[in-house]
Amino acid sequence: MQLIDGKAVSAAVKQQIKDTIEKEGLEVGLAVIIVGNNQASRVYVNNKKKACEVCGIKSFEYALPEDTKEEELLELIDTLNKDDKVNGILCQLPLPGHLDEEKVIKAISPIKDVDAFSAVNVGKIMIGNYAFLPCTPAGVMELIHSTGTDVAGKECVVIGRSNIVGKPMAMLLLHENATVTICHSKTKNLAEVCRRADILVSAVGRADFVTADMVKDGAVVIDVGMNRNAENKLCGDVKFDEVAPKCSYITPVPGGVGPMTIAMLMKNTLMAKRIQSGNYEA
Ligand code: GUN
Repeated sequence: MQLIDGKAVSAAVKQQIKDTIEKEGLEVGLAVIIVGNNQASRVYVNNKKKACEVCGIKSFEYALPEDTKEEELLELIDTLNKDDKVNGILCQLPLPGHLDEEKVIKAISPIKDVDAFSAVNVGKIMIGNYAFLPCTPAGVMELIHSTGTDVAGKECVVIGRSNIVGKPMAMLLLHENATVTICHSKTKNLAEVCRRADILVSAVGRADFVTADMVKDGAVVIDVGMNRNAENKLCGDVKFDEVAPKCSYITPVPGGVGPMTIAMLMKNTLMAKRIQSGNYEA
């Protein structure tokens, strides 16, 4: 069994972005909006700002109170859409319950939508002709590639069907000619389906969800989960101690997929700059 080092792969991607920005003398800016006091969101946003610093990207944080009105948030997004210094806009999810996430995502200009959450960008991913990467799935693909695994023809099982991870994950695997199964809460015989997987991607959000009986010997296991266990320690979806010995490769949590998601966000922000400079067709 070998661990996939997401931190190392992510550092290499960020270094490349930094070098490009320096060499071309680009000014790149990312606006990060956070609403309310969600602790996990605060950690993610801080990590995104740190990554901007590493890459030489300017970050502009907008921390809004929990009771922010929808019109206020939409107004801010409208201002940022028009601001030339801001190449990318991301609004950290989840938003407080009174705010309509779909409406907020829709308000972000598709050429600044560096999360690739808008219908336009999701549609482009579906077609396979896209400028903005779906960050977490694209990060997972880079981690799989880092193992030297050829995805074509492989049985790939994705657990979870969210718009942010499960669905675009399946698309990226499909674009590389995998045979893809998406599992979810209504899937029958989940363990049996998962055991078919040469590559198993779990994006469930429940600690200890993936157990050894669900994993084929020699599988590549990618853990997208980011949970807290009973001792409040960060952990993924995979029961690591019992699953790892069966795998050819496995990602740790933390230090696996998480850093890659952020590296892909940086890639998208540079892409947004190129699109807005007329150097790339969106
Ligand atoms: N919440 C959890 N993951 C993400 C992400 O990738 N982007 C944003 N904006 N919010 C998230």
